[in-house]
Amino acid sequence: MSSSVDAALPETAPATTGWRPALHYTARDTWLNDPNGLVYFGGQYHLFYQNNPFGNVWGNMSWGHATSRDLLHWTEHPVAIACDQREDIFSGSVVVDHGNTSGFGTAGSPALVAVYTSAFKAGSEHAGTQAQSLAFSTDGGMTWNKYAGNPVLTRNSAHFRDPKVFRYEGDTGTYWVMAAVEAQHQTVVLYRSEDLKAWDYLSDFGPANADAGEWECPDLFPLAVDDDPENTKWVLIVNVNPGAVAGGSGGQYFVGHFDGVRFVPDAASLAAPAGVSALDDAAPAALRRCLWLDWGRDCYASVSFSNAPDGRRIIIGWMNNWDYANQLPTAPWRSSMTLARELRLTAEGDSARLVQQPVLDGSSGHPGANNILRSGPFELEGTAFRLPDAVSDSAQVIEADILPGNAEQVSFHLLESEDGCAGTVLTYTPRSAELTLDRRQSGNTGFHAKFPSAEAAPLILADGVLKLRIVVDHCSVEVFAQDGTVVLTDLVFPLPGQPGNRLTATGGPASVRSLTVTALR
Ligand code: FRU
Repeated sequence: MSSSVDAALPETAPATTGWRPALHYTARDTWLNDPNGLVYFGGQYHLFYQNNPFGNVWGNMSWGHATSRDLLHWTEHPVAIACDQREDIFSGSVVVDHGNTSGFGTAGSPALVAVYTSAFKAGSEHAGTQAQSLAFSTDGGMTWNKYAGNPVLTRNSAHFRDPKVFRYEGDTGTYWVMAAVEAQHQTVVLYRSEDLKAWDYLSDFGPANADAGEWECPDLFPLAVDDDPENTKWVLIVNVNPGAVAGGSGGQYFVGHFDGVRFVPDAASLAAPAGVSALDDAAPAALRRCLWLDWGRDCYASVSFSNAPDGRRIIIGWMNNWDYANQLPTAPWRSSMTLARELRLTAEGDSARLVQQPVLDGSSGHPGANNILRSGPFELEGTAFRLPDAVSDSAQVIEADILPGNAEQVSFHLLESEDGCAGTVLTYTPRSAELTLDRRQSGNTGFHAKFPSAEAAPLILADGVLKLRIVVDHCSVEVFAQDGTVVLTDLVFPLPGQPGNRLTATGGPASVRSLTVTALR
């Protein structure tokens, strides 16, 4: 979190309608950061989020609220949990208390219980500390009551926050588990409870891997490896700011085992042997050995839904970076969420890796889905292949299977000007086995010195095929490569006159096996 809020836009700043995404959630006219309390209940996905109800920079932290049936079409609701004289409402999670363990609901009608961080203000009885508190809803998430016994868990720490709570069932029993952070100690702390009100300490994890910045917004959940329920591993997501692989904020994860008390990472999850900090020398090479949810600049605070249907594990991240978050050139809204992404684990060596796909199912068959190009196979060299232009009311999903063959580089030039001088370039370079996303000439990049950037993710082709799924939505490019094994997300702010999209191969011919473009609105 940044405490700098010096970049408030003047009240008269013109609305930047051209950058408002078609598919990604934005608040109508206020600021947002982390997704909070992601929960599926009553046929709806609830997205609560860090919100400033009174402005479009960070401050007055409260939980905003939106709902969706398909994770694509969102309806904004009034603020769910508001800050007051005593506390700001920092990040946290929501559970459905099916067994009415808290007593806030009834056996037949479970309450939704929010576990959030009280960031206590000067003058309050806990001033200077962050502690965990409860609020509950008995009307399906529309109105919330703070619990009179708050806070329910304090360590008298100034940086104890971001509780993610889940129901654990295993050899040690059935109970609630909370994963939270001691942010400045790069530690995830685990607690257990029978009733969500009284919490007992279980264990600590960290520091490990990327530990140069504060650890924030953890999540811990089981996933079947390659969909085999007999082979389940646990994933611990730990967001870090600054010190992520692309600079500033980012999400790392560990794969391992949780026995109801302690999380133990697989050796292959660690960038250095246990007990040795991989990053003592702050070596970029060591950072690149950590496991990253996203190799881009703009995917932070990713956490998963609780109670999601069919056992699906779906995350949403904040599509931004604390390096420049308060300065994004949009008005009256500022910041958006990433698309919802479904997670799977796939075996790799002695451990496993996450793969992610954007949840776009709600768009197929939707009247807004329009297949505007279906092409391939064809050879490409020298001349560029022109894709349909971006249009104002839609996002574009570009899907390509390409054999780079002898080409030195294969590039998608996205949101490009007619003369090719401005645009965002996604390039695969076989020789270095890297996928880069370069936004240095993407349009408006001058609002912050740290914004112009190029990000590189390692990517080794299987059978010589580059598989890309690219979602371009007005102010963002999200890339899911090799079926979601490598993900790269960057914000971009193209200027008027940059609708063009092109595909090029340089230094040799490439074969395009298939290429489709779908417009979604
Ligand atoms: C992460 C974060 C959290 C905190 C919240 C405050 O972006 O700093 O650790 O709870 O934002 O808005």
